[in-house]
Amino acid sequence: MIVAIDGPAASGKGTIARRLAKHFGLPHLDTGLLYRATARVLIDEGTRLDDVESAVAAARGLALTDFDEEKLRGREMGEAASVVGAMPDVRAALIDMQRRFTQHPAGAVLDGRDIGTVIAPQADVKIFVTASPETRAQRRALELRGRGEPVIYADILADIRKRDERDAQRSSAPLKAAADATILDTTDLDIEAAFKAALAIVEKKRG
Ligand code: DC
Repeated sequence: MIVAIDGPAASGKGTIARRLAKHFGLPHLDTGLLYRATARVLIDEGTRLDDVESAVAAARGLALTDFDEEKLRGREMGEAASVVGAMPDVRAALIDMQRRFTQHPAGAVLDGRDIGTVIAPQADVKIFVTASPETRAQRRALELRGRGEPVIYADILADIRKRDERDAQRSSAPLKAAADATILDTTDLDIEAAFKAALAIVEKKRG
């Protein structure tokens, strides 16, 4: 069973994907980490984020096993990942790695922006997780403060709006729900309720 979970930043898609994977005993890939890790290489090298050739080389050099999440989760990295994710050549360089992941014999759970539309259009279950920008900004501000990053809510809301706009407007694989995805709005749901709602969607699809 291939489960595709897409949605904007801080919608809850990552936690839902992780929990579904655990529940069904499937491998999970958070594809945002690929874009974050690509951007991280450029930042560590001191290369400009708009240097497409270097970004493609960084993307090609990634190995799925060596992500240091601590270095990839901060506020700056989400924005940088969105910048490199808007480059069609970077996306092309990361497609095979993601498609290979879907070929695990038992299936897989992947979360990102274009899983149901581009990476795994054949997925058995597609869920598009969303929530209001204000709710997502509150969640992200809490998460970043929890990581010791002092942040201002209004700045995080502005980040979220800017990232939504870039991710949804780019020409290559923009953030959008697949036509056959089920929309899950988590604005008024805590994580337990969101997971249960996602599980119900999977169970219904599986008949
Ligand atoms: O899911 P995330 O917040 O970790 O993703 C960070 C950025 O990476 C996101 O703003 C856009 C990009 N991204 C993408 O373009 N395609 C994906 N499948 C996943 C992430």
